[in-house]
Amino acid sequence: MTSTSVYSMDSIPGGGSVLVEHVSTKLSRNPGTNRPAVTISYAQSIDGSISARAGRPLAISGDASRIMTHALRSIHDSILVGIGTVLSDDPALDVRLVSGKNPQPIILDSRLRFPFYSRMLANGVKPWIAAAREADGSRRQMLEKAGVRVFLLPSCPGGGVDLDTFMKRMGDMGVRSILVEGGAQVITSFLATRFVDQFVITIAPLFLGGYRALDRPLDQIAPRLPRLKNVSCQKLGADVVIRGEPDWD
Ligand SMILES: NC(=O)c1ccc[n+]([C@@H]2O[C@H](COP(=O)([O-])OP(=O)(O)OC[C@H]3O[C@@H](n4cnc5c(N)ncnc54)[C@H](OP(=O)(O)O)[C@@H]3O)[C@@H](O)[C@H]2O)c1
Repeated sequence: MTSTSVYSMDSIPGGGSVLVEHVSTKLSRNPGTNRPAVTISYAQSIDGSISARAGRPLAISGDASRIMTHALRSIHDSILVGIGTVLSDDPALDVRLVSGKNPQPIILDSRLRFPFYSRMLANGVKPWIAAAREADGSRRQMLEKAGVRVFLLPSCPGGGVDLDTFMKRMGDMGVRSILVEGGAQVITSFLATRFVDQFVITIAPLFLGGYRALDRPLDQIAPRLPRLKNVSCQKLGADVVIRGEPDWD
């Protein structure tokens, strides 16, 4: 297996197709609302680090898990990261390892710090940016000229885009599913607001002692600490992938 091959959805190495199929069965919108279904997916070390240091990109998972992640991307309507991840890793957020459709990239970026060198601007599907209403107007115009669509939304009191309004807006735009890939601040915000329906967490057998998947203790911001229910586990290459749904009670 090489990570430069392109895999079909039913030939993901190590049995990843079964996992992706399982995730796809849980992608219906939330009953009674038009809120998109949210999957949070990230790769971590055994000690719960998602990077060695903030701002330093690092490939944590192995080939089979990376291919599975690209397949996950292709079954979601959209893929979301925070501007911290864009500035740190310059991700393309595409599905180059599998034969599937590229999801719509969405960036949470209150202050429109999105860089013009981003690999996403070279993709067929130009990114959407969720920014604060107060964001710089001329910067917005320049980004729109580059093909970016900017959504101006209210901010949270502590900073960042208000996720409640954001989710409603995405639902109105016809987005049925969002794959949230990070980083830590964004994962923590989605957990704190409970806008998450399932998790796919890849655990790679290495120690990093680095930047953690959650950027603050959840007991300070969430009424209850969530556990995972309906948990399934799969070994993909040397990695272990855990899938489950949050149990808020
Ligand atoms: N291992 C993995 O799977 C994985 C995946 C992704 C990222 N990473 C790593 O994660 C690190 C980056 O994570 P990070 O925590 O620094 O940044 P991040 O979560 O990617 O982005 C955080 C930024 O997003 C903006 N934002 C806007 N609305 C927000 C909201 N409601 N909630 C949270 N953020 C909001 C904020 O900037 P403004 O105030 O300017 O809007 C905030 O500072 C990098 O080291 C990267 O390599 C790892």
